[in-house]
Amino acid sequence: VIADVRAREVWDSRGRPTVEVDVTTATGALGRAIAPAGASRGSAEATDLRDGGDLLGGFGVRRAVDNVNTVIRSALLGAAVEDQTAVDNILDELDPSPTREALGGNATVATSLAVLHAAAAARGVPTWRHLTANPTHLPRPQIQIIGGGAHAARRVDLQDFMVVPIATDRIDEALTQVAEVYLAVGALLLARGPALGVADEGGHWPAVRNNEEALELLTLGIERAGFVPGVDLAISLDVAASEFEDGGRYRLESEDRVYERSDWLNVLSGWLDSYPIVAIEDPAGEHDPVGMRDFTKRNGGRVLVVGDDYIVTTADRIRTAVADGACNTALIKVNQAGTVTHTREAHAAARAAGWSTIVSARSGETEDTSIVDLAVGWQADILKVGSITRSERTAKWNELLRIDEVLGGIPLAPFPLRGSS
Ligand code: PGA
Ligand code: ZN
Repeated sequence: VIADVRAREVWDSRGRPTVEVDVTTATGALGRAIAPAGASRGSAEATDLRDGGDLLGGFGVRRAVDNVNTVIRSALLGAAVEDQTAVDNILDELDPSPTREALGGNATVATSLAVLHAAAAARGVPTWRHLTANPTHLPRPQIQIIGGGAHAARRVDLQDFMVVPIATDRIDEALTQVAEVYLAVGALLLARGPALGVADEGGHWPAVRNNEEALELLTLGIERAGFVPGVDLAISLDVAASEFEDGGRYRLESEDRVYERSDWLNVLSGWLDSYPIVAIEDPAGEHDPVGMRDFTKRNGGRVLVVGDDYIVTTADRIRTAVADGACNTALIKVNQAGTVTHTREAHAAARAAGWSTIVSARSGETEDTSIVDLAVGWQADILKVGSITRSERTAKWNELLRIDEVLGGIPLAPFPLRGSS
């Protein structure tokens, strides 16, 4: 049973405070987790409780920490640590709002994950093995090479220019290939002008004039690294279109131009013709279901159309999107759902519909590797963590390498994926 719950303020990759929770069982097993934090957030996702005011730009989490140490702690003491659903139900009862206005999504997600880790520790197994005894594959990595959008001062409109190794079925080889591409694109950028550092998730700063230039660099980088674009490694984009959609129109800062929906979808569809793209996330805004449906109808047969802001890791929204044909792949973020149980339900809803699944980090991250446990434990198809630099990102990739070693080397999830076939 749960004998103690304790929260503290720790720091994330943006230098902002976040919530860490320790859950201890009566037998002395410890589970620990830290809440991540997004920047380009869907309006329907669980919200972090922030202190506001002048200190730390208003990003303090003292109230969220207090909520864990008082109301959540008293409600969970004595609960069965292995009954994740019952624990998460208690959190739901304390704060029934899906956006977690009262307790804070940062308080609930760190608590819920810490309980999961404590249950695994009590059994003496790693958390991924607590979720599935014998995983048959590891998630395929999808890794950012160039950042953009809200993660790079809107220097370009698109948020993530990523690659997916599609030929290899080994995690170590996949990471090596991506690191080669990261180096090659860095060299190409340096040759064009001064090095400008990295964006929020460790990808190269988008020192380019527009989105197409980043796509060109990415394709060239794959070649320069010695690979065949579209054969060895392919491109994946997170458009994060909610950030520049307004009333079904799309305003591209980099071009100082507003596109009508159909024109915008033509631009994106044209990129699918011109570049080796295999996945595209949030091509239309979260409030533009027509755009999501039209894009999926047109391109869902050839690429993964990934819903992030549009479905915010909610089983009901996924079922609606399935019925509407609004995407064919679910992005799964545990802090959008607020608890492990709601996240698992969302993942299962996507699977039940035959969709592919991508377990994802947030732009604000820490050394916490809980999402690797979830991705391996739930046998997700893809893991999205940001780039292959900076420890809050590499903590996750390195954990995948260790798990692979423990399992004696298991293949990556097959490609092409469900949604694209
Ligand atoms: P966020 O971005 O964590 O800043 O919301 C990640 C994403 O949009 O996938
Ligand atoms: Zn996204």
